Amino acid sequence: MSENLIDLNDISKTYYGAGEPVYALRSISLSVGSGEMLAIMGPSGSGKSTLMNLLGCLDKPDTGSYIFAGQDVMTLDKDQLAYFRNVLIGFVFQNFNLLGRASALENVCLPLIYAGVNSKEREKRGRQMLSLVGLEGREHHLPRQLSGGQQQRVAIARSLVNRPGLLLADEPTGALDTKTSEEIMSLLQRLHREQGLSVAIVTHEPEIALYCQKIIRLSDGQIISREKVANPIQTQVKAG
Ligand SMILES: Nc1ncnc2c1ncn2[C@@H]1O[C@H](COP(=O)(O)OP(=O)(O)OP(=O)(O)O)[C@@H](O)[C@H]1O
Ligand SMILES: [Mg+2]
Repeated sequence: MSENLIDLNDISKTYYGAGEPVYALRSISLSVGSGEMLAIMGPSGSGKSTLMNLLGCLDKPDTGSYIFAGQDVMTLDKDQLAYFRNVLIGFVFQNFNLLGRASALENVCLPLIYAGVNSKEREKRGRQMLSLVGLEGREHHLPRQLSGGQQQRVAIARSLVNRPGLLLADEPTGALDTKTSEEIMSLLQRLHREQGLSVAIVTHEPEIALYCQKIIRLSDGQIISREKVANPIQTQVKAG
């Protein structure tokens, strides 16, 4: 098996809608190492979210190959793809996507219900995850009773409760102020370090990208640059 968690080779994705076809991704090749942190940048409409959807097995490319953890994603059936999405990959979004009527703990435990974990074990693991992201004592708060940064921590705890190897975050700090954004990036960096998690982050903000080891830039569906970050930002903000 290659030491890369992800190997995308020459993938393309075209949307056929009402008007002209949209060539959202054109001949993209990309590797993400195990335990690597990657930033994906580029202007609006350049294909960032489309790429995240493919990486997250939410959608399949039209052509090309996608190897995830040694498995050829293109050959997986519906159930296998669902397993990849629900267990092997975690997702975090700009607007947190929490259930408004469910407590922080219930939100975090949700993926464990689908994974068939019993309720006692669910609660135990949910509490562990909340404490890992610095939210001990907030278990029974509803999302609206939490700050934006705390809501994003709940979403991160939920995305990691099944212990996936890959975390995909589409503009995770897009709705947060600068200080809170830095705290969220420090948290992601700590989880990446401590859990050997691979992370791919879409961001518009150069300062956020500098927390990552590698930055790729998309333009018009193509990768126009790849750079290594010599000294990724390492802050030691304490969770909480
Ligand atoms: N489901 C869809 N059907 C048709 N076209 C789509 C669909 N999703 C995306 N597109 C088009 O594909 C292109 C890439 O979209 P994508 O959402 O990947 O861009 P993005 O880089 O994430 O942009 P943003 O920074 O605004 O989120 C755009 O031109 C968009 O209009
Ligand atoms: Mg997008």
